[in-house]
Amino acid sequence: MKYQWYPGHMAKARRMMEESIRLVDVVIEIVDARCPASSRNPDIDRMAAGKGRIIILNKADLADPDVTDLWSAYFRVNGIACMSADARRRISVRNLTQMTAKVCEERNARRRAKGMNTDHVRAMIAGIPNVGKSTWINSLSGRASAKTGNKPGVTRGGQWIAVGTSFELLDTPGILWPGMDREQTGRNLALTGSMRDEAINIEELALELISFLLDAYPGVLAARYGIDESGQEEETRDDMILRPDTSPNAIRCMDDISARRAFMKKGGGIDYDRTARALLDDFRSGRLGRISLEKPPVKENQ
Ligand code: G4P
Repeated sequence: MKYQWYPGHMAKARRMMEESIRLVDVVIEIVDARCPASSRNPDIDRMAAGKGRIIILNKADLADPDVTDLWSAYFRVNGIACMSADARRRISVRNLTQMTAKVCEERNARRRAKGMNTDHVRAMIAGIPNVGKSTWINSLSGRASAKTGNKPGVTRGGQWIAVGTSFELLDTPGILWPGMDREQTGRNLALTGSMRDEAINIEELALELISFLLDAYPGVLAARYGIDESGQEEETRDDMILRPDTSPNAIRCMDDISARRAFMKKGGGIDYDRTARALLDDFRSGRLGRISLEKPPVKENQ
């Protein structure tokens, strides 16, 4: 399936981000723990060069903990401080405050050695839409009014929020757009809800999710829907428009989920749209369990 990212705004958002980044010492980049590579903008490494760096693997409560550990190790090896988190928990906020203080301390020591002022350490939160930027800003600021939405342009006139004694945070996030170089990136962002469903063929996306789960997390669909996951003979179907590479077993699983949930159309026939939405909703809300969509690249010599 071809995935389209939101049109427009991108150049402006990037300009605003570059303006804001000049004001800060530390960039706290938020990514979705279920797909850290897909939910990053590759330009940020260039934009944030020379700044203190932290990556938050957010929504870790929804991701596979073993895979999240692999990602944490991967970013650390690449020289970026990294923590996994559920933005809605107090403990995560405390951990970030401590981690930022540590990153700042290292920077401050270098600055002091050069005779530079270390009074104010300023940080900003950056990330693509829907990864949890506003939730983090609200949690760190302790007030509910920092919600700014995803409108580029909000950074102008931004306020600084004192976070404990360790740093000041820009109250408006830097909005980035994902690099959509791989089809898998689009699929992952569509699955995690970072792309509007209206722009997506929901039934194809659900079939892609089923294929992925059958392969990477066998037993998950059986446990949730009481279906048999094992493959059967291919059937000829003319009631759905499918990619030639859609697995027949995925289609059969979709049929079985519909049957189990009694998702039928009024005039008869399977209601694929309703089935697809229910499945995606179960995945996005964690009702299928903690699932990660991608693993970090493995070094060739490992
Ligand atoms: P953004 O500013 O980057 O666009 O993201 P935002 O904070 O608005 O968060 C997007 C959605 O993700 C929100 O849900 C938010 O509650 C949820 N969220 C943020 N961090 C976490 C996390 O660590 N774990 C989980 N499970 N969810 C998280 P929503 O349904 O869009 O809004 P609401 O119902 O919470 O108001």
